[in-house]
Amino acid sequence: MIALLVKEDKAKETLAELTILGDVVRVQKMSELTRAREQGTLEWILVDERMGIQEAVQTKFPQVVVTSILPPGDVFVLLAKQEQLDSRVKNDAANDANEWIEWTEAVEEGELAVSDTWVNAPSTPLRNGQESPREVLRRTEEALVSNRLMPAMPEPPQAPAFFRRRGTPLIMLEGPKGGAGRSTVGAHMALYAALHGKRVTIVDLDVNGDISEKFGFLQSADVRGWRGGDMAAAVADGICHVHETGVHLIPSPQSRDIVLFDPDDALYLVQLAMSEMDLVFVDMPQGWTPLHRLLLPLVSEVVMAVRTLPDSLGRVEEHAEKLVMAKVEPDKVSVVVNQARKRSELKIVQPLLTPYQPRVLVPYDRKLEKLGGLHGKKLSLACKDWWDSSLGFQKSVKKGRWKR
Ligand SMILES: Nc1ncnc2c1ncn2[C@@H]1O[C@H](COP(=O)(O)OP(=O)(O)OP(=O)(O)O)[C@@H](O)[C@H]1O
Ligand SMILES: [Mg+2]
Repeated sequence: MIALLVKEDKAKETLAELTILGDVVRVQKMSELTRAREQGTLEWILVDERMGIQEAVQTKFPQVVVTSILPPGDVFVLLAKQEQLDSRVKNDAANDANEWIEWTEAVEEGELAVSDTWVNAPSTPLRNGQESPREVLRRTEEALVSNRLMPAMPEPPQAPAFFRRRGTPLIMLEGPKGGAGRSTVGAHMALYAALHGKRVTIVDLDVNGDISEKFGFLQSADVRGWRGGDMAAAVADGICHVHETGVHLIPSPQSRDIVLFDPDDALYLVQLAMSEMDLVFVDMPQGWTPLHRLLLPLVSEVVMAVRTLPDSLGRVEEHAEKLVMAKVEPDKVSVVVNQARKRSELKIVQPLLTPYQPRVLVPYDRKLEKLGGLHGKKLSLACKDWWDSSLGFQKSVKKGRWKR
């Protein structure tokens, strides 16, 4: 669409004159321009010179060509300009295509690791109905499989479950650095919820996944090639462990390629769990990954585990900035300062987290460090009030049930 901003007195005349250019629409509000740009239909903006707003419009829409005209406009000059514009669009498409071809070749020739492809793929899909990024990834994968560089991976299952989702809370366990205790905090929170009668699933998406080990499952099931279905099928097919408290665990396949190569699989598992359970946790890889961006729109609470070690503070600050950039609201984020030796650790991290707030201080527990797993009695006591309010519980869990 070609947007025309013109004063009322010459509006009709100018529109009639310029119809020869194609789809010219008179626009009277900035919001109409913004909408057209968001829909990707805004090709060109023509501004009535007498309005004196050409610069302001250009600043607001830097990617669109803004041309000033003296109504009713010189059609021949504008036609010549349109030709220039068309050739520029063609060049852009050609550049995009080249970028994709170079990138695909780099993957095929092994210059880029498969696991990097999702992160580094050019963001603009090909125009002219050519391959989308996902299709390129699939083709690359096929090439790797046929060259025996990678085992074959069947098509990911479809995600019918998503449409049956019942507003199930999804809690994201994450943090800027590994070893801060995000799996430990999450495992205890999940256990607490299960002991209160919630049907809980944890989907482990951490490439160094170990959350099912905390529940005593040492053998990681392999979700690759699972034919899909429901949670009962996941249990029957051995891709989901069930703990004695009822916590369902879908372990990480423990491979960078599998978790990050096809985020559709991760999304499928999360949505499947959300469609059937009361509460779902995802244990994320450390740091910031494409999976974070993919899942954040579905997440009801982000549990960020941090430690105040000098070498992690910079990362804490950077990580909080990433959450801000992803527009995660402060009341959705619960920061757990773990393995604390002093109360003053809260004050150390607080300014780095802005606009987020530390929610709980969990003391260092020698027993938990030694035994690992679900031995965090001190941790559970410290987190209890937070869990009660976050999960909507009133009473505390019966005494003695933590001893397993
Ligand atoms: N409050 C605590 N006091 C002492 N040890 C703790 C505490 N919290 C967690 N730990 C221990 O720290 C270790 C790392 O915890 P955990 O596995 O939960 O970290 P993580 O953030 O999930 O790391 P990873 O990146 O390895 O997945 C575990 O051995 C755990 O038992
Ligand atoms: Mg972990």
